[in-house]
Amino acid sequence: MFGLPAAGADTTPVPLPDDSLLRRDPEAYWRRIRDEQFLLPGWRAFLNNGSLGIAPRPVLKAVTDYLQSSAALEMDYYPRWGYETMDEFRQELADFYGCKKDELALTHNATEAMCTIAAGIDLKAGDEVLLTDQEHPSGRGCWYTRQVRHGIRVREVKLPLPPGSPEQLADLLISAIGPLTRVVSFSGITSPTGLMLPVRQICDAARAKGVISVVDGAHMHGQIAFKIPELHCDYMAGSPHKWAYAPAGCGLLYIREENLEKLWPTIVSGSWNETKLKAARFMNVGTNSRAIMEGMMAGLRFLKQLGPDRVYARTHHVARYLFKKAQECSHVDLLTPDDDRMFGALVTVKFKLDKPERFHELLKQRRIWANMGQQVRLSTHIHTRPQDVDTYFETMREALG
Ligand SMILES: Cc1ncc(COP(=O)(O)O)c(C=O)c1O
Repeated sequence: MFGLPAAGADTTPVPLPDDSLLRRDPEAYWRRIRDEQFLLPGWRAFLNNGSLGIAPRPVLKAVTDYLQSSAALEMDYYPRWGYETMDEFRQELADFYGCKKDELALTHNATEAMCTIAAGIDLKAGDEVLLTDQEHPSGRGCWYTRQVRHGIRVREVKLPLPPGSPEQLADLLISAIGPLTRVVSFSGITSPTGLMLPVRQICDAARAKGVISVVDGAHMHGQIAFKIPELHCDYMAGSPHKWAYAPAGCGLLYIREENLEKLWPTIVSGSWNETKLKAARFMNVGTNSRAIMEGMMAGLRFLKQLGPDRVYARTHHVARYLFKKAQECSHVDLLTPDDDRMFGALVTVKFKLDKPERFHELLKQRRIWANMGQQVRLSTHIHTRPQDVDTYFETMREALG
């Protein structure tokens, strides 16, 4: 059960180690972050928070505290969300991501945000939506349902693996925009490969051609430091339960101010047409868990306390270490390019061998939590130890020779 503490686990928050330790001994600093801030046991190597992250102590405490106090009805407002506008939460998130509170809605995940965007844009039969061939099923299904139902045309642009440069990626998407293209929908960081796309360049070019830009940012919040308005996108989806320490069940929907009244809400209740609510109109979705939202905010505060630049420096440093290990390994090809502009904390390898089953068995035995398959995306978050990376490649060598 991700996001909930193990029975009897102590979730009392512990202060962060002093910055002087980071300067003196960075490995010791990050070891203490892992040991003191997370419930991860020493025997677990965790290399897949790209699928779903783990919540640190302050997040667990916020969730359980809220569940307890709401069970005791300690507060004087209804302990739920789903009909409220959550202004304070949205303001704090908006301050962090540089946008306006009124442009931000809280959802349950990136899938819901992407579906709200794709279902809500006015499109007619024959209109074209451009995607890359690296989109997550949630970034594809939302458009393909409209292809079948409404006769729009979805076209996928193939991205080379590994790509040569961010400019090449931008060129491929921009040059694919045609006279019928109405929307370009792509991941800021791709799901199967962790590639970072030049978001702003693509959005600017789309805008110049009168095309709507949709950024699936499921891997962006918490993995990289960014401000939403700097991306110049029309819409964005986020998934803070991957990299931003939120408990499972948290999503973000950004709607650029000028689009607030153009987008149709999909999951609706009484205030579906109250446009004065701005983005909060898209949160009128019925009762759900406020405790989870409290956890998401605690995750945001944890990220702010650490500092997004410090987090990125560390996670990319460990990803670079992993990249080097993969380069030296004869069993895999790298699909991640050797260019810091194109990857953050995700590195993807492809096995040369058909079925590395013995390797998969050993991974399980050794409690190494990683994606398994022919093509594997490995994640390095602040709790990933260089020794976890070593163990992964040593296990591979042992299994495959
Ligand atoms: C790029 C991308 N979009 C969307 C999703 C779906 O995210 P969620 O589970 O938060 O809906 C994922 C999940 O892996 C993803 O990688």
